[in-house]
Amino acid sequence: MIKRPRRNRLNAAIRGLVSESSIDIKKLIYPMFVTEGETEDIEAMPGIKRYSLKDLECALKEIAGLGITSVLFFGIPKEKDETGSGAYCPHGIVQNAVRLAKSLFPELVVITDICLCEYTSHGHCGVVENGYVNNDKTLELLAKAAVSCAEAGADIVAPSDMMDGHTASIRAALDESGFENTLIMSYSVKYASAFYGPFREAAGSAPAFGDRKTYQMDCRNRREAFIEASLDINEGADIIMVKPAMPYLDVLSDMRREFHAPLAAYQVSGEYAMIKAAAAAGYIDEKSAVTESLISISRAGADMIITYFAPQVAKWLNG
Ligand code: PBG
Repeated sequence: MIKRPRRNRLNAAIRGLVSESSIDIKKLIYPMFVTEGETEDIEAMPGIKRYSLKDLECALKEIAGLGITSVLFFGIPKEKDETGSGAYCPHGIVQNAVRLAKSLFPELVVITDICLCEYTSHGHCGVVENGYVNNDKTLELLAKAAVSCAEAGADIVAPSDMMDGHTASIRAALDESGFENTLIMSYSVKYASAFYGPFREAAGSAPAFGDRKTYQMDCRNRREAFIEASLDINEGADIIMVKPAMPYLDVLSDMRREFHAPLAAYQVSGEYAMIKAAAAAGYIDEKSAVTESLISISRAGADMIITYFAPQVAKWLNG
């Protein structure tokens, strides 16, 4: 007799028991935009706002109340300049947001994105010289930005610039300044992606000329991800990341198998916007699509997921 699994006998409870992945709110990180201006909606990302410091308090209370344990801050300064000085100003917007968040919720895990593109007048992720980003000059500024965030109380700094050697230079600067216990979550495998479109609207950080293809990864490359991730791990990354998530699940799965470091995946602004737009048009069911997307990312190997859906998911999970 041929033995076969009794699949159609599995009721919902048994399916739950044998399921291999699940969504846990404690594994989600909520990205938030903080601005020196007034609170504003972001058109391409329904439900997501840029918060003024004044309104951040209320937003954080809601988030903490939902059981979200980690946030990732992006700063939007009033003034931008050639060298992105707002990124490493001790009282810059992100540094002030971190101080506020940690004073209200000391247990909240506060992560800050470390990059210059939200702060530079040209929108590139580093110092531009003769039409190119100067890698090593940028490293010094990124290290200053990381130290200023650690001073403000950030638990984790997350360099998203894709400069070579960024993790080593940030680790050294943190250690020299007495922040041996500040973690680094490196955006190790970050592709040059069309799916960052809505973010660039949110942060006003679209490059004024050229693109980011000289420093972000080429979507045609899979092996390159192993090189990028191993460099970051050897330089001291505590957590590595793959970004975007859904178009790169193969790479995420590669990273899970190859490395033992904690692994994050970033479900980026364009992934969020697509699901929101299709759901608003009635083409897909939002809750099912969001759930499936997060399960897929976790099934591919992510230990934690950065997602703009975090509060929505928390509400669904809390019933
Ligand atoms: C900054 C940065 C970007 C994102 C995270 N950090 C934009 C970019 O590289 O252009 C994208 C996040 C998202 O799309 O949600 N370098």
